Order: sequence, then C-alpha cells, then structure tokens
Amino acid sequence: MSQTQHVLIFGATGEIGSRIAHGCVAAGHRVVGVTRGTNTRHRVDLQGVEMVTGDKGDKAFVQKMAAEHAFDTVVDSVPTPAHVDLAFKAFGNQLTHYLMCSSTGTFVPLQAMPADETHPWETKTPVNFWPQCERDSFALSLHEEHGFPVSILRPTNIIGAGRVPLDTWGGRSLAYWRRLKAGEPIEIPVTGQTLVQSGCNDDLGSAFVDAVACGPEIAGEIFIISTRRAITLDRYVATAKAFLGSASPVEYVTPEEIIRRYPEEATEKGLQFLMEHMCFDIGKAERMLGYDPQFTGEQGLQQALAWALEEGLF
Ligand SMILES: NC(=O)c1ccc[n+]([C@@H]2O[C@H](COP(=O)([O-])OP(=O)(O)OC[C@H]3O[C@@H](n4cnc5c(N)ncnc54)[C@H](OP(=O)(O)O)[C@@H]3O)[C@@H](O)[C@H]2O)c1
Repeated sequence: MSQTQHVLIFGATGEIGSRIAHGCVAAGHRVVGVTRGTNTRHRVDLQGVEMVTGDKGDKAFVQKMAAEHAFDTVVDSVPTPAHVDLAFKAFGNQLTHYLMCSSTGTFVPLQAMPADETHPWETKTPVNFWPQCERDSFALSLHEEHGFPVSILRPTNIIGAGRVPLDTWGGRSLAYWRRLKAGEPIEIPVTGQTLVQSGCNDDLGSAFVDAVACGPEIAGEIFIISTRRAITLDRYVATAKAFLGSASPVEYVTPEEIIRRYPEEATEKGLQFLMEHMCFDIGKAERMLGYDPQFTGEQGLQQALAWALEEGLF
C-alpha cells in the first residue's frame, strides 16, 4: 500500500472520527473530512483536513464525492447499513479499502475471556448490539460476494478527554460523578468484581490510522481495539475516587434498586450491559495492524475526569 493515500473520513468531527482525521494528516495522508455541520464540540485539531459539509446518507452527495475525487480509503466512524450500501455502490470500484467502526457490544455475553475475534457474535442475544451485528454481517457479505474491501474495527467502551466517562449506574451521568466528587454514596450493581475494559479515544483513533496504512491486505477482517487489560468495577471506582480525592462509600445493590433511586439517570438496559463482563484480547490488532495503545483504562478514566473538571462539568 502506498505511503500517502487520499482518505475520506465520514464523521471527522466526532470523538473518534476527529482523532482518525488528525492522525491521518500526521501520517502524511491527504484527508477530506465530512460533517453535516451539527457537531461543534470537537476539540481535536483538524488543521490539514479539508472539511466538506454534507450528509453521508445523501446519495447525490456521496456520488458527487466519488465522482470528484479518487479516494484510496474511506473511513466511516458511525455507519448504518444504508451508509455502507451507499459507499459500496458509490465508491465500490474506486476504493482500495473501506474501514468502519463497530463495537465489542456485538460479542456479549462473553463465553470465554479474554474474548478475541473468533468469539461468536452473529446470533441475537438478550444483551448484544444486534443492529450492529446485522450491519457488520451485511458489510462482510459485500466483501465475500463482491470483493468490497471492508475492515471492521470494534472498540470497547470509549474513555478519555472529551466525553463524560462511563459510570456504575450504566450510563454517563453527570449526577453520578457530582455525587462521587462530593463524597456522597454511590452504587455498583451487585458486585464490584464485574470486569470493564475501556479504550482510550486517542489510542482508538490511532488503530484506524494503523489500519489505513495496512490497506486492502486486511480486508474482510474484524479487529478488537481497546486498552490491554480489563479491570474490575471496584478498581474503576477506586481509581476515580483517588483522582477526585473522594471518600464516597460504595454500596452493592440490585440494578432495580439503582433505578428506583435514580429513575432519571439509570436504565435497565444500561445496567444490564454494565453487568456483562468486558474482557478482550487485542492481540490480533497488535500483530496485524501494529496497534500499540499507550494508555491503561485507569489513565483513560483520569484523562476523562481531568477534562470534565477543566470544563467545569462537576
Ligand atoms: N461510546 C462508546 O463507548 C462506544 C463503544 C464502542 C463503540 N462505539 C462506536 O464508536 C463510534 C464512535 O465514533 P465517534 O466517537 O467519532 O462518534 P461521535 O462523536 O458521535 O461522532 C459522530 C460524527 O459523525 C458525524 N455524522 C453523523 N451522522 C452523519 C451523517 N449522516 N453525515 C455526515 N456526518 C455524520 C457527526 O458530525 P455532524 O453531526 O456534524 O454531521 C459526528 O461528528 C461509533 O460507531 C460507536 O458505535 C462507541
């Protein structure tokens, strides 16, 4: 694959998308980023990215992009099946590589840990992200049947500067973090031994830049991207408490009790998902992409909390 590529990034203003765009410019690629113009909260430097306003679900716009440019690689950070189909039809013959972001939520519940890419995901379960599974199956079928050069990267829970971190009520609630900072009691559903594995946004963005460099030799492949290790919810909360100087007591209660106490904040779905162990092996991404995450889950959490404090969020 050539060193310098012409790369189109759908979602270039997003948390991960902006990091992919920034990293691709730093790697020497010529980068076009697409946004509808509604997301203005990006904080990553997009200097060097040629920003274009448009909707990746708009057939005429996508066809125009394909007609006016000769992209080597298209990246979509938040694709739907319709976006994948449109990209296949508009860019199919032109592209050497199509990279899309998915989620490790496709794999749950984990049957063995750490789970790798061979773990089952193509069957609906009560907790997996079934629409994402269906979308990924569709994209891989385009590869198998038509040679569309798609690769799928699946991050775990995203953490780092720029977004309120996951809490132990199963969401990203400011009220939770305010309570923790104030030293008020907080709850963990059932047991603090549940495993959580977060991926730091800067590292996750770098995995896509690695994948762009690999080119079509990784087409048809799925990669799990995250930090190297899972930690327990107890360790996660202890890390946050130490960082915030909090003496919050921790109570282990049923998910129903958490919802009863915080009906505005906690949801059954969020808590159910939080209670699934998240423990993944990123070895395939390390070996094939050269992925080299720089941060631990604890460091990602500290970065997110430091950012939230700086922003005055709690
Ligand atoms: N959050 C997590 O913990 C987690 C965990 C695992 C996996 N994931 C996956 O990771 C990805 C997250 O990516 P991200 O952080 O970059 O998302 P993000 O911060 O939500 O950004 C998405 C970007 O896409 C753009 N966009 C959305 N629809 C568009 C359209 N129709 N046309 C053009 N641009 C459009 C938006 O910009 P405009 O509004 O300006 O167009 C926005 O900047 C998702 O695929 C998610 O499923 C997330």
